[in-house]
Amino acid sequence: MTRRRRIYEGKAKVLFEGPEPGTLVQYFKDDASAFNNQKKGVITGKGVLNNRISEYLMSRLSEIGVPTHFVRRLNMREQLVREVEIIPIELVVRNVAAGSLSKRFGIPEGTPLPRSIIEYYFKSDELNDPMVSEEHITAFGWAAPPDLDDMVALSLRVNDYLSGLFLGIGLKLIDFKLEFGRLWENDEMRIVLADEISPDNCRLWDVKTNEKLDKDRFRQDLGKVEEAYQEVARRLGILPEG
Ligand code: C5P
Repeated sequence: MTRRRRIYEGKAKVLFEGPEPGTLVQYFKDDASAFNNQKKGVITGKGVLNNRISEYLMSRLSEIGVPTHFVRRLNMREQLVREVEIIPIELVVRNVAAGSLSKRFGIPEGTPLPRSIIEYYFKSDELNDPMVSEEHITAFGWAAPPDLDDMVALSLRVNDYLSGLFLGIGLKLIDFKLEFGRLWENDEMRIVLADEISPDNCRLWDVKTNEKLDKDRFRQDLGKVEEAYQEVARRLGILPEG
């Protein structure tokens, strides 16, 4: 890491001031956390893999017209992104029951859902990211109704596209989390996809064996965590250099 102004440090990434105004450098750490920071660890090489995987997925999404904050990868652990105003909502899309949905409703993991379900969580470490409704989001002003409409429409497109992409490499996209930001250009604002898309925030199961190839291996102490991230990168055809 060079000497640059640190704008924000999260659990898995650091944001530095970028080379030009309106840009940031997103640095991917090997640190892993789960259950709102109650479980912490290091997954060696995770940052390098997530940088590549997120670059690949954001680029493919950009090609189909999904606006993202991603500009280009700079090196093994860093990517250049546009500076956006992060909307404090985590949007989760679910295709198959798993994780907190299975727990909350007593639905066995692996049960296909009748249709894709979208959930919203308010980003707050102190409050443990509570689940919220559209009403909360618009009433408390976290996102205006048209912005939320854009976020939902983009999430469904991302789900359709990524479900197909992953199926093509023998992986089921069980669920994933997205974050969005406001990007200002010439007094005009658009909602763009921000943060990252990687096995840290997607559940990916092997189509044939249902083997988990994502962060649940860390959350549930299943072992072979780095190998799982590597396998996702390998199937995408993008193993890191060096
Ligand atoms: O834990 P839960 O079942 O609600 O997670 C749903 C999806 O959102 C999973 O793919 C998980 O990796 C992701 N997620 C995340 N960050 C959070 C909470 C969930 O990336 N803070």
